[in-house]
Amino acid sequence: MRIGVLTGGGDCPGLNAVIRAVTKSLLRQCGAEVIGIEDGFAGLMGETPRVRTLDWDRVSGILMQGGTVLGTSNKANPLRDAASTERALAHVQALGLDALVAIGGDGTMEIAHGLSLHGLRVVGVPKTIDNDIVGCERSFGFDTAVATVTEALERIQTTGQSHSRVMIVETMGRYAGWIALEAGLAGAADVILLPEIDYSVEAVAAVCRAREQRQRYTVICIGEGAKARGGALTVLRRLDDSPDPIRLGGVAQVLREQLQPLLASEVRATVLGHVQRGGAPTPFDRVLATQFGNQAAQLVMQGEFNRMVTLNGEQPGSVPLAEVAHQSRKVPADHPLLRTARQIGVSLGEP
Ligand code: F6P
Repeated sequence: MRIGVLTGGGDCPGLNAVIRAVTKSLLRQCGAEVIGIEDGFAGLMGETPRVRTLDWDRVSGILMQGGTVLGTSNKANPLRDAASTERALAHVQALGLDALVAIGGDGTMEIAHGLSLHGLRVVGVPKTIDNDIVGCERSFGFDTAVATVTEALERIQTTGQSHSRVMIVETMGRYAGWIALEAGLAGAADVILLPEIDYSVEAVAAVCRAREQRQRYTVICIGEGAKARGGALTVLRRLDDSPDPIRLGGVAQVLREQLQPLLASEVRATVLGHVQRGGAPTPFDRVLATQFGNQAAQLVMQGEFNRMVTLNGEQPGSVPLAEVAHQSRKVPADHPLLRTARQIGVSLGEP
């Protein structure tokens, strides 16, 4: 057997752990040849495919490395036109690949599903710091991002406290508030604003004013996809050649401008940005990524294709790619962490 492996979409801590586990599992259990495809689907879209053989030595020592040793692309989309699709499929055939393991987020799963409809045998592995892939309670990379944001909130708190400021910290997460919610709780944010709950500027200002009288500082954790009631998403830029062209960013500054006229204390905004995606994965993400990689290899060996590996509770499983494509998993209105936040007095920006 010859199996291709690629990492698509934005990078995230734990990708190398998956590459290592898929490769070791396939080499050890069925002696398959494992071919790494460079820069995600971009490696299948040029005149000639860009690949390298992954052997035991090549994947040793990468478990704890951030990023992806294969490189990635969040622009390459072989489904963008018929010629690109044909070329990618022709490269797969010329390389003699029996199946492809595609490690990526919702965009990659959509492409994987689209290619599976053209006959490609694919196994998907969910990755994203956003934790927003349908069918999967935890994607690797999320735990690491939450740890990074939590540490940032702790640091922001001491400087905010010293200067009696209102400190706003913007997290990634796109249209889902998982990072802001978990890190906000872990990092003792006083206000947590999520894309799923449009915030009232006056309600947030009221929390800050109350704290001006007592604690004299406030920490606000806001997901990049959050918006005020009646307001619009804050779009940083459009990348028209990307399968997901909207890049969010800047809502912390928008909120700063909304709050400043209503408050006596100074309001400052910090955008954490890509620091949330970089660096070594946490032990939790290393283990999860290793489980996912091994699980993907098992699906390949069992001939179960066009599925994405999952972990719900402690149980590894898989779901059809068709059930995952074109969707994103948001924080549900009845999520227990929302209740916990409200009950311990953390504001969610609600009036
Ligand atoms: O999906 C992961 C993610 O980091 C989002 O949280 C963020 O909105 C986006 O990717 C940023 O993408 P880029 O690296 O292309 O700016």
